[in-house]
Amino acid sequence: MRSPHLLSIKDLSVSEILEVLDTARELSRITDGAMKKLPTLRGRTVVNLFFEDSTRTRLSFEAAAKRLSAEVINFSAKGSSVSKGESLKDTAQTLEAMGAELLIVRHSSSGAAARLAQSGWVSSHIVNAGDGMHEHPTQALLDAFTIRSHFPEHDRDFTGLRIGIVGDILHSRVARSNVLLLTALGATVVLIAPPTLIPIGVESWPVEISYNLDAEISSLDAIMMLRVQGERMNDAFFPSEREYARDFGLGAQRLKSLKKGAIILHPGPINRGLELSAASADSPQSVILEQVANGVAVRMAVLYLLMGGTPIPKEGVLV
Ligand code: CP
Repeated sequence: MRSPHLLSIKDLSVSEILEVLDTARELSRITDGAMKKLPTLRGRTVVNLFFEDSTRTRLSFEAAAKRLSAEVINFSAKGSSVSKGESLKDTAQTLEAMGAELLIVRHSSSGAAARLAQSGWVSSHIVNAGDGMHEHPTQALLDAFTIRSHFPEHDRDFTGLRIGIVGDILHSRVARSNVLLLTALGATVVLIAPPTLIPIGVESWPVEISYNLDAEISSLDAIMMLRVQGERMNDAFFPSEREYARDFGLGAQRLKSLKKGAIILHPGPINRGLELSAASADSPQSVILEQVANGVAVRMAVLYLLMGGTPIPKEGVLV
């Protein structure tokens, strides 16, 4: 990776995206075998700097760092001196003074990770773990990793794959990062949502737009259901949850319309019964838990490539 930071999928060329995915596959192959932990980041320190709640991203970065033998410091704004008014700058500098070399930043403000990277306040590598409604690059990388594992004929090129992203596009950093990444790899992306949940300016995005899930569902190779982000909604974006689920939810009826071999993704956490029924979330076509597992491998690859870890050891060398 050329950039010392991962702030946006725009930071990555197609060959760098493939480098991350290939490295993740190699790391996953090794750590799924006899060697559970690699020494490659031994003595290095990474910090989870989370100003917003998280289960998957924070824990998988922690697992990823530990599997590479790095030290991990976890910071959560809740219960910290942020409540006393401590700034992002002072918080980051405090953690760097404790030895941090890489900060994994989640923040409710779009651009917070970029601000840290570009301010000169700290010299650490910065990884954007979700900034407001802007981007969530490691989520898109793990989604692409998951998709390619199900379509091996598209290992290096997603041309010919039609991928639907359904629901709350407006508030979704996952959707923005995925549009950039999936189209960079050649996929056709169709955004499917009520007009109120499609962002202004979407005409300039390299995507198709549809307001009718039933018209699209049988043409999709992968369907990515998005969480309805109630916490970012200060207005009524649809008449009722019941109507949303009827028109844009993936329920038992629509499940039958999916193409054979199509996969169901969701970044989590799921609102069961709203965007996804239990029957769909738990169906054989659902790859949601694979996404979680792949998140660890992809985040190992990101840490390894950004921090310049020592060479990945050969299998059979236990540490
Ligand atoms: N997908 C995702 O970002 O989940 P968390 O909010 O649990 O990290």
